[in-house]
Order: sequence, then C-alpha cells, then structure tokens
Amino acid sequence: MTETLILRELLAAEPGWVSGGMIASKLGVSRVSVWHQMEKLRAQGFGFEALPARGYRLSKRPKMLHAGLVEAQLKVRRKGFTFITLNEVDSTNDEAARQLSAGRAAPFAVFARRQTHGRGRFGRAWHSESNGNLYSSFVFRPRIAPERMQTFTLWMGVTICELVSKFVPVKPGIKWPNDIVFDGRKAGGMLTEARVDADQIRDLVFGLGLNVNSPASAWPAELSRRAVSLCELSGGTVDINRLTAALIGRVLLAYERFTEGEHVDTFAELWNTFDVLRGREITLSEGGRKRRGKVLGVDDVGSLLLRDEHGRTRGFRAGEVTIEKGG
Ligand code: BTN
Repeated sequence: MTETLILRELLAAEPGWVSGGMIASKLGVSRVSVWHQMEKLRAQGFGFEALPARGYRLSKRPKMLHAGLVEAQLKVRRKGFTFITLNEVDSTNDEAARQLSAGRAAPFAVFARRQTHGRGRFGRAWHSESNGNLYSSFVFRPRIAPERMQTFTLWMGVTICELVSKFVPVKPGIKWPNDIVFDGRKAGGMLTEARVDADQIRDLVFGLGLNVNSPASAWPAELSRRAVSLCELSGGTVDINRLTAALIGRVLLAYERFTEGEHVDTFAELWNTFDVLRGREITLSEGGRKRRGKVLGVDDVGSLLLRDEHGRTRGFRAGEVTIEKGG
C-alpha cells in the first residue's frame, strides 16, 4: 500500500527529511500522487513539515491506532500473516472467530479501537472504551493437544510482560494465570479460546486487552482502584502504534518458539522473573470452592502449585486468585 510505503520512508529518515521526488521514484508513482497521499494522512492525524528544498519530514503521529503506521513499523514481515484494524467491534475475539468461519487464513490478528462487548474470564465484561487502549486477538492453527493451551497462555503472558517492560520504567508482573499487573493493579488480561477437533486444537484465538492510554479518571471509580494504564507509569502517552507493531513481532515469534518446543527454558526463567505470586499466601476460588495455601510456582503444564496448611502440594488448572493480606 502506497500509504505504508510513504510512512516507511519518512520513519526511516527521521529526524531527517525525504524529498517528494525520491519517494515518488522509489514507489514508481507521480509526485502529485505522493502529495495526495500525504494530504490523506494529514486528515488522519499525521503532521508533516514541508520545505521546497528538502522535502517532507514527519512532525506528528496519530494518537489512535493506525493500520498503515503499525504496518510501516513492523520489523519483520512474517509470511502469511495479515491483520485488520477496526474502529469498533463487539469483541475482537468474536470478530476473529467470524473471520475464521468466513475462511480467513491464519495466522492473522484483529485490532479494534473500541469494543462494545469486550469479554474477560468467567464471562465478565472487559471495559473497552475508545481511549487509546489495546484490544487485540491473534489467531493461529497450532495443531497441538488441548492440554497445552494453558502453557500457551502463560508463555504469552510472560512474553507480553517482557514487551511491556520496554515501554514503561516499572517492572510488570504476571498474576497466574492471565493478568498483567503493576503493584496489584491490573494493566492487562488475556483470554484464549480454542475450537477443538477430537484430540487437537483446530484453531486458537488469543485475546489481549491492555490499558495503554486511558487516564484513571476515564474509568468507573470502582475500576480505577483496581486498574492501571501504562501511560500513568510512563508519565506520558504511550505510542500505541509502535506498541502494536512490537506486539505483533513478539507474539508471532513467541508462537513459533512455542510450537517448535523452544520455549521451555526461557519460559521458566521469565516466569520466575515476572511471577508475583510465588511465596505468597493466597485463596484460590475454583468452581465454588475456596482453597488457601502458599504458592510454590507453576508446574510444566501451567498448573498453579499450592501448598496447604498440612504441607500437601497440589496443582490447580483453573481458578481465581486473591492474595491474602500480609501474605
Ligand atoms: C481477563 O482478564 O479476564 C481477560 C480479558 C481479555 C480482554 C481482551 S480485549 C481483546 C479481546 N477481546 C475480548 O472480548 N476480550 C479480549
């Protein structure tokens, strides 16, 4: 797409200038057509300085998700991967499932600026206003046993923690199984859903919601006590387009390493780095039952290892964790 190619030239030259003639000849289009494209980009929130002797220079980027800007910042272009960005959708996970049913080839991703029915775990709603946050779903066809889905989500969780740590000066944490947290406040959550054939996963939708640029004041009071946005930690707006491009790169690489079984050692290391539960006294609520114990870590199928008051250790595959006061 011409738009992406123009943006790529401008980004590569930053903070320098690129001549309109150079862009035109590189892309094999006329200078007038370059000018037209740049006017379109201006209308979408970009700013350019223009000097007759030097050409163009990027002076402002849109604050909201912009497909061309994400594409232009992809470091590696993975074969067969496509993505769509939507202004509004019910849920990116649901849209991903619809796209799959309509025959779209995996791997692909769906991004939206806003969700009207964002979903979390246990059927809860995921607050998804249009305020510069990330709502994304990645679709894969991994051909793996369904039991491996739990480890997949945990692996993706630490991958996201590593990525997020490059954008904020505070270390993120992973709260088993799927919360990205900072000092007890939630910045992101993951929802992995799969369709299963006999004994294999047919397709898998990995949904990630990340609070990026919404000020705490934009949330209902109850939520703002429990949630945090990356912008509050970085002290300024986080570049959502750069973050999204980096996310695509990381998620696709992490997926490859997972399916090739190359993630095992790195997973253990990263889990130990980001795990916020190890050594803590918690209550695990699971199917109406509550169990108290001390967290010892996770096992190799991603179960939470809990030691009870009698010194017995058991692994749990699902549930919701509450950290006990003073634990
Ligand atoms: C949770 O913590 O309970 C999981 C939240 C997952 C939210 C994301 S936002 C993008 C994707 N679409 C959804 O409807 N849910 C996930």
